[in-house]
Amino acid sequence: MSFFLEIKSNTVKCPNGCKLFNDKRNFSYWESKNVTKDEKYIVDYLNINSEVLKNKNILHVGIGNSYIAKKLLSYNKIDGISLSQNELDYASKLNLSNYNFFFQNKYANQKLFDDKLNFYNIIIDINLKSFSCCEVAFDEMFKMYVKIINKDGKIITSRTGLEWSRIIKPVLSFSFKNFLYKRLKEFDGPESNILSIQNCEEISKKFNLDIDLSDQNLVIFTKK
Ligand SMILES: C[S@@+](CC[C@H](N)C(=O)[O-])C[C@H]1O[C@@H](n2cnc3c(N)ncnc32)[C@H](O)[C@@H]1O
Repeated sequence: MSFFLEIKSNTVKCPNGCKLFNDKRNFSYWESKNVTKDEKYIVDYLNINSEVLKNKNILHVGIGNSYIAKKLLSYNKIDGISLSQNELDYASKLNLSNYNFFFQNKYANQKLFDDKLNFYNIIIDINLKSFSCCEVAFDEMFKMYVKIINKDGKIITSRTGLEWSRIIKPVLSFSFKNFLYKRLKEFDGPESNILSIQNCEEISKKFNLDIDLSDQNLVIFTKK
C-alpha cells in the first residue's frame, strides 16, 4: 500500500517565468530504479564506437542511477546533472573518478551552465523535451546545449525517450518499506513535449546542426 500528498518545494523560474522544481532537500527519484533501455542503447552505441568516446568530456543530463558513469569506457570526464538530491547522493557514494555531479534544473534561467558546465564533446540527454514547461524554456535549453559543445560535438538522445512526456511533482509518500519520505512523482505531461523525427530535423536546421538518423534507436546532432 502507498499514498502520496503533494507538497510545497523551492522553485526557480524558466526564462519564460514558469515555476520549476529546485529543491535540494532529499527527494528520491531514479537512484534505485533500473536504468531505462534508452540509456542502455546509448552506452552500447558509445562503447562499440569507442573512437567517438576516447578522451571525451561528457555532460550527462538526468543521471538517474549513474548507469552512464558506471558503464561507459575510456572517457576523459563526465559531468552529470539532476534535480533529485537522492540521485546526487547515490552518485557520490559510487566514488567514481572523473565523475562530477550537480543539482541543476536544465530549464532554469540560471548561470551554472555558463560558470561550471561547458566545453563538452558529447551531451547525453535521453529526454530532450520530456519534462519541458514551455517552448521558450526548451528552446533556451537547446541553444545552451549547442553553445557548450565543441565543434564536432554531439548531442545524443534516444528515439523512445523522445516519445515520453511527463510532469514531475514533489510529493510526500508513505510505503511500508520507507514509511514517510519525499519523492518526485511523475504524471502524464502535455503532448507538445513529444518530439517526432521530423521535429528533430527541424531542430537540426534551426540550430545549424548535422543530424544522424542511421541508428534505429538514436538521434545524434553534431555541431558543424
Ligand atoms: C526518467 S529518469 C531517467 C534516468 C536515467 N537518465 C535513465 O535513463 O535511466 C529522468 C532523469 O532526468 C532528470 N531530470 C528530469 N527533469 C530534469 C530537469 N528539468 N533538469 C535536470 N534533470 C532533470 C531526473 O533527475 C532523472 O535523473
